[in-house]
Amino acid sequence: MKKYLLLFFAFSSLFAQKKTIDQRVDSVLALMNLDEKVGQLVQYTGGFDTGTRTASPKQGQIELIRSGKLGSLLNIFGAQQTRKVQKIAVEESRLKIPMLFGLDVIHGFRTTFPVPIAEASSWDPKLVEKSARMQAIEASSAGIHWTFNPMVDIARDPRWGRIVEGSGEDPFLGSVMAASRVKGYQGDDLAAANSIAACAKHFAAYGAAEGGRDYNTVELTERTLREVYLRPFKSALDAGAATFMVSFNEIGGVPSSANPFLLKKILRDEWKFDGFVVSDWNSIGELVPHGIAKDLKEAARLGINTGVDIDMEANAYHRHLADLVNENKVSIRDLDESVRRVLKIKFRLGLFDDPYKYCSADREKKTIRNEEMIKATREAAKRSAVLLKNENHLLPLKKDLKRIAVIGPLANSKVDPLGPWNQQGDSADVVTVVEGIKNKINGKAEIIYSKGCTIDGKSKNGFNDAVAAAEKSEIVILCLGESLTMSGEARSRASLDLPGVQNELAELLQKTGKPIIAVLMNGRPLTINYLAENIPAILETWFLGNESGNAIADILFGDYNPSGKLPVTFPKSVGQVPLYYNHKNTGRPNNPAHQMYTTSYTDFTNAPLYPFGFGLSYTTFEYSNLSLSKNKISKEESIIASIDVKNTGDLEGEEIVQLYIRDLVGSVTRPVKELKDFKKIYLKPGELKHLEFVISPDKLKFYDINMNFTVEPGDFKLFIGTNSVDLKEAAFSVLE
Ligand code: NOJ
Repeated sequence: MKKYLLLFFAFSSLFAQKKTIDQRVDSVLALMNLDEKVGQLVQYTGGFDTGTRTASPKQGQIELIRSGKLGSLLNIFGAQQTRKVQKIAVEESRLKIPMLFGLDVIHGFRTTFPVPIAEASSWDPKLVEKSARMQAIEASSAGIHWTFNPMVDIARDPRWGRIVEGSGEDPFLGSVMAASRVKGYQGDDLAAANSIAACAKHFAAYGAAEGGRDYNTVELTERTLREVYLRPFKSALDAGAATFMVSFNEIGGVPSSANPFLLKKILRDEWKFDGFVVSDWNSIGELVPHGIAKDLKEAARLGINTGVDIDMEANAYHRHLADLVNENKVSIRDLDESVRRVLKIKFRLGLFDDPYKYCSADREKKTIRNEEMIKATREAAKRSAVLLKNENHLLPLKKDLKRIAVIGPLANSKVDPLGPWNQQGDSADVVTVVEGIKNKINGKAEIIYSKGCTIDGKSKNGFNDAVAAAEKSEIVILCLGESLTMSGEARSRASLDLPGVQNELAELLQKTGKPIIAVLMNGRPLTINYLAENIPAILETWFLGNESGNAIADILFGDYNPSGKLPVTFPKSVGQVPLYYNHKNTGRPNNPAHQMYTTSYTDFTNAPLYPFGFGLSYTTFEYSNLSLSKNKISKEESIIASIDVKNTGDLEGEEIVQLYIRDLVGSVTRPVKELKDFKKIYLKPGELKHLEFVISPDKLKFYDINMNFTVEPGDFKLFIGTNSVDLKEAAFSVLE
């Protein structure tokens, strides 16, 4: 029996095997005083020293831990550092309850993986799960118990900077990705030393902010909330997500930190979630400026009574919760319930059995950026890029080129490929495109690098040098996009154009007549119309992390055939936003031949630049023989849809076969199509695969006029194809 456990733990641990976690939680709860209970619901951030790149508790926090008044810290990491802090909790506090260390491990801890929207472009659930697993293994070795991820917010508005943190616009793809990430972080066993608790965030509809401005108001019907925005949360929960984080926004007048419809009715009553809910950073405090609480005390009362278990950084529970209980404004029963949920996760993580299990400096040393991590991030990076254009098979490049110009502000950037949620990533570990190409070419060609311009500056002083580099070369690789600080939290943009003078640089280089391949790095869809019309090849890479340049070189030189597809629509103009594939038909559907009096613009098209699900390969795929096992089914029956997909090109490759359904007439209107399934398949040249998809009743259900989730009889269309526009079509009916 370890010495840091109190007698009562020793006693209860003797029988721990026989006792359930709930019983163990109750036995701890029974010993806690009011301050200690409140302490479990308080979370503060440690301080980060940018010089030493280390984190440590801020002044006063150690004393709070010692007195049992602080149960959780965020932004404290490192095996030694967390051990030091944990030691105070389990050796010096009265009840020796272990601390919980949380961190935003969004796309990596030290090894930086592709940003989430990039990984979603892989449409590869196993890959995404593996990536999350690796992140968990690395972060847990550095003392982290809990990540504030996955971010599962559906985003239909690319102006919103946080679109980069999620999986795009579609609820089905978003749900698949949400489940993969939860499984990856939590592994098969949450109590394993290399598993970390996941946190589905931001609950809910944060991505629907008006005008794409971060933190802004959300107006949403319950139907759209449930059918679109909540689905990935439910999927995360079904995959076992241990925790949820509320969002900053209000929905229809009710901020999420005080929204009983979301937190009580849906999350607890309907979904039976038994993990804990954490606020977002000061989101309880923000109930005051929201105008729903008159002061912090009232905010604390609203937060806890609505079911926000942990207060991150608002100082509301720490200051006011005990008083609120004493004044009978918060019931001890509700307080106990919140404490129970927090203790339960600490038990499930195994922290009561061994509070130091995440604090091994030896494991940390062996794990951080080990070879397996680097291999995994390169693999993820290759599979996350999307080929948007490839005229006349310009790509893949031949390896016998003699002179290659690599141009642009992102061509040799060591920082931007880390992406906006770079955690402890180091720019020294980033392989740039210039470096990746050099690694690939291995001295056999001359690489001429020219920056051309900065990402968002106005100066064109570098243009001549860039043109000279292009003129000397056989081919130009032009790396354009956004900086890592242009997307992410609080980074909304009103323009979706390439910033600065980058477009002008592209125009100038195009005039040299050299073949150009545009490599994009960005955190959101961009209105790259000039590139789409004039540059023969475009590769969307988002931000691919540490192995960015190597992965891009793998693709450019054909060592990997790109297979990604867009998880989000690329508009042609910011004025079209929100533009998403699963929109409604309206009473006056858009008709490009007759814009007037149909839902359209008088001065612009409705068409996207690149539709949802779009992405090319170096090979081609032919779809044929779409057939259905039946054309008429009852409400309880399933249909099997089958299709043949053949690789008709000369290279092996992967295709993401997408299945969409449209319900033609309902008691409420239905989207023009909805993604219901997909399969990623690998085909050798000439190979044909016969695929089958099961359309079970749950794929046809929706919230009817009375908000019942049901299948309505009637006619349906089913589509299968390579993206949300190029589709084969079949029809079936559901009988009364
Ligand atoms: C605020 C962000 O909205 C949230 O996503 C993040 O987890 C917290 N800060 C903690 O860093």
